[in-house]
Amino acid sequence: MDGNGRWALQRQLPRPDGHRQGVVNIQRVVKILARRGVSVVTLFAFSTENWNRPAPEVDALMTIMAEEIEPQTQQLHEGGVRLIHLGDPDPLNPLLRHAVAEAQQRTLENSAVTLNIAFNYGGRDEILRAVRRIIADDLPPEQVDEALFSRYLYTDGCPDPDLIIRTGGEQRISNFLLWQAAYSEYYHTPVLWPDLDEVELGLALDAYSQRQRRFGALNASDNTSQE
Ligand code: IPE
Ligand code: MG
Repeated sequence: MDGNGRWALQRQLPRPDGHRQGVVNIQRVVKILARRGVSVVTLFAFSTENWNRPAPEVDALMTIMAEEIEPQTQQLHEGGVRLIHLGDPDPLNPLLRHAVAEAQQRTLENSAVTLNIAFNYGGRDEILRAVRRIIADDLPPEQVDEALFSRYLYTDGCPDPDLIIRTGGEQRISNFLLWQAAYSEYYHTPVLWPDLDEVELGLALDAYSQRQRRFGALNASDNTSQE
């Protein structure tokens, strides 16, 4: 969800206003994607590295999230959305930690769309946590295969992402779903997250539908041409 700060700057507003608009845009994006048949949406809201931002910015992000989560969850709940937190909840302020737990509990039975919110999430952190838990569980090395490893990740039970959309013009993965993104298709756009709308999402989905996904194999037509 990149570009909140620049969105605010463009309007001569303080950065937190951009973050709030970013949270507001979650509803729009989830609704559009649900209409287009997407059943799992994952949003990268706050990374393990975002703690390195100045304290007032981190505080603003936590406060906005804590304030918005309840009303936003109400709307999502009405749309049949199940909310799942990806990341370590422990370092979050108690208010936010409580609100996140509440939102997950409240939407537990919903099944129309799964909305994963990665908050205090880092791909490397997730992998290390999985390794530590596998060691703690005393599993024999030969039992540790890809399927088992996946079950130790925050995304346990979720399919790997088909498409990753990066807003705000950057072209890097920034520690997002490192394990799960092995064969995800990638789409980047200069559009800032609060401006991500139906038109741009349509372009992303159209681009995705043009991709040929081979997962390291060959196409049937590639085989024929060699014969
Ligand atoms: C993304 O917007 C929000 C978070 C990382 C929490 P930014 O804050 O990175 O916005 P820009 O990149 O400064 O525009
Ligand atoms: Mg940014």
